[in-house]
Amino acid sequence: MDLRSFILCYLVVLTAFRCDGSVSVGVTAVGLAGAVFYAGFDKIRCTFYECCSDRADWIKPNITALTVALDSNLYGQHLVHHVVPRALKAHLLNKQPQKALVMSFHGWTGGGKNYVSKFIAESMYKLGMKSQYVHVFVSTVHFPHERMADIYKLNLQDWIRSNVSKCERSLFIFDEIDKMPIGMINGIKPFIDYHESINGVDFRKSVFIFLSNTGGPDITRAMLKMWREGKKRSDITMMDLEHLIQLGAFNEDGGLHKSELIQHCLVDHYVPFMPLERHHIELCARDEIRRRGHTPTKELIEKVAGEMTYFPPENKLFSTTGCKRVAQKVGFILTSEEYDNIFA
Ligand SMILES: *[C@@H]1O[C@H](CO)[C@@H](O)[C@H](O)[C@H]1NC(C)=O
Ligand SMILES: *[C@@H]1O[C@H](CO)[C@@H](O)[C@H](O)[C@H]1NC(C)=O
Repeated sequence: MDLRSFILCYLVVLTAFRCDGSVSVGVTAVGLAGAVFYAGFDKIRCTFYECCSDRADWIKPNITALTVALDSNLYGQHLVHHVVPRALKAHLLNKQPQKALVMSFHGWTGGGKNYVSKFIAESMYKLGMKSQYVHVFVSTVHFPHERMADIYKLNLQDWIRSNVSKCERSLFIFDEIDKMPIGMINGIKPFIDYHESINGVDFRKSVFIFLSNTGGPDITRAMLKMWREGKKRSDITMMDLEHLIQLGAFNEDGGLHKSELIQHCLVDHYVPFMPLERHHIELCARDEIRRRGHTPTKELIEKVAGEMTYFPPENKLFSTTGCKRVAQKVGFILTSEEYDNIFA
């Protein structure tokens, strides 16, 4: 029994004994004190335990923090820097948003999609990804069987409904949405649509993020074409890529495949993550070496970047795994160097 139910119980017992007139005044006083205490209790509880409020800063969106995190950790994704903080700011500062915010992140692995989701969570909640109001679904883990799509769909609707009724400002992250059983994603449509409320629950303050690799090949193809035309990476605009991923998400197999979400334009922002180039990998390597308390020498950085694979074969422009394998590579190289030093 938690403290809250204990107090409630206590009040009920007190009320039951009130028929004894002589002590009724005193008991009422105690009951009143209990009620006041109960009101104060939430306040105290929220000082120590996470609450769905800005009390003790549990939920206190800070877009500056997001921008700073992106600036110092995310490389080669100027479009993400451009779109994500703005979209989030517009939604979070709006006291009465018309619908939930839905962002769909697309692109090659290792481009930073998970990373950005993490920074978003950290900028919204004091506990970041550990907040009870952040919900992550990974398709291959949570929805592995195509034939169970109907059951998953019902479960997911229940989860979203009960989670949002606990806290309107909830964050839902759907990883590998391209691997979600076809049609399932339509189950969340009612929650992100322009409804005032469904059974008294208002979903419009929640944020949904979809992560997928769809559109990755299209983005890369478009970038190679622009590269051949001599266009600089930093000159690539949303216009150059947005419609591509929209098409990609729609036509490739998987989660968003022919989904109503797209047909009804419920995705607010398609965010392209571009494949990373060697100099971005070097920046990630530098950060990782520093993080492990070593000096990032040019030699060490180049060694890490040199061990990654690049494509296409003719010009080796882009890293196949982005910054994803960098941490492991750095770890491996540092340990083997230490090993060499010991046995040299
Ligand atoms: C928001 O984050 C920035 C950067 O981390 C920090 O300097 C600032 O104090 C934060 N603002 C609030 C109101 O917490
Ligand atoms: C909220 O969602 C999680 C999945 O992240 C689920 O396990 C949990 O049961 C849901 N909470 C409620 C109260 O339904």
